[in-house]
Amino acid sequence: MKASAPGKVILFGEHAVVYGRHAVVTAINLRCYAEAKKSNKIRIESPIATTGLDFEKHPYVSHAVKRFMEVKPVGGVQIKIDSQIPVSSGLGSSAAVTVSVLKAMDAEFNAGLSDDEIFELARKVELDVQGIGSGTDPFVSTHGGAWLIPERKRLNLPDIKILIVNSGESSVTAEMVARVAELRGEMEEVVEKIFDVIDAVAMKSLSMESFSKLFSVNQCMLKAIGVSTKNIDEIIQQLEELGVAAKITGAGGGGSVIGVGSYSALQRVKNIFGGVIVEPEGEGVRIED
Ligand code: PMV
Repeated sequence: MKASAPGKVILFGEHAVVYGRHAVVTAINLRCYAEAKKSNKIRIESPIATTGLDFEKHPYVSHAVKRFMEVKPVGGVQIKIDSQIPVSSGLGSSAAVTVSVLKAMDAEFNAGLSDDEIFELARKVELDVQGIGSGTDPFVSTHGGAWLIPERKRLNLPDIKILIVNSGESSVTAEMVARVAELRGEMEEVVEKIFDVIDAVAMKSLSMESFSKLFSVNQCMLKAIGVSTKNIDEIIQQLEELGVAAKITGAGGGGSVIGVGSYSALQRVKNIFGGVIVEPEGEGVRIED
């Protein structure tokens, strides 16, 4: 059986959300596809490699298979992964691969798991691999749609298109979270105020039709806490000159930049910088025919 699950972008609130502030997150219409077939051994095939259970090359898939087997013992499985979501770019590819593998195995072996149970298993896999994590990525990938975090309240976003441009640098979430913690340790009262601004921006976005100005303010705050880079600053400035307001999405230090603006401006920027234009995705994990 084949299943798919979407990636996500953080529209507002990364880093501040670690300290209890709000974030706005949405699933996007880039999906990871996973096929599971009964077999007498375990085989995992992806664009990265073909392996058995391999916690180094395929950490998320391997832990997902292991966690699934704890719920429903099976002799083996052949997994095939095919993803539209770039890896290490803050777009939730790890959660999407985990959730889609669990759903495909659930269907192939008739385990009868609900989506909530799939989320719970995916949440365990996130912790198995990363040790820490808020659970937001597997939650959004399982359920689809847009959400206010930490409440996990479903949101209705305005009709928007989002340009995603890869900065060309990779983003290591744990490193950037540690860097922000260090800055906060040095000047807590200053950094807490920046988090308050980010929180206000996230809340304001719930009643604004256009995100352009809010993207710019949020990006300035992310720069202030040291998670932008010279390269990202330059990309964002060039995008702004072309009529696209942009910000980091996710942990920063690299990864993806997201931009909003008129469709023609997004197309223009895409032609110059590459990237992909996406939209919020309502549907979470699903079985593919
Ligand atoms: O880069 P991502 O998609 O892993 O997002 C990280 C978001 C942070 O707020 C920086 C950390 C977190 O766990 O919320």
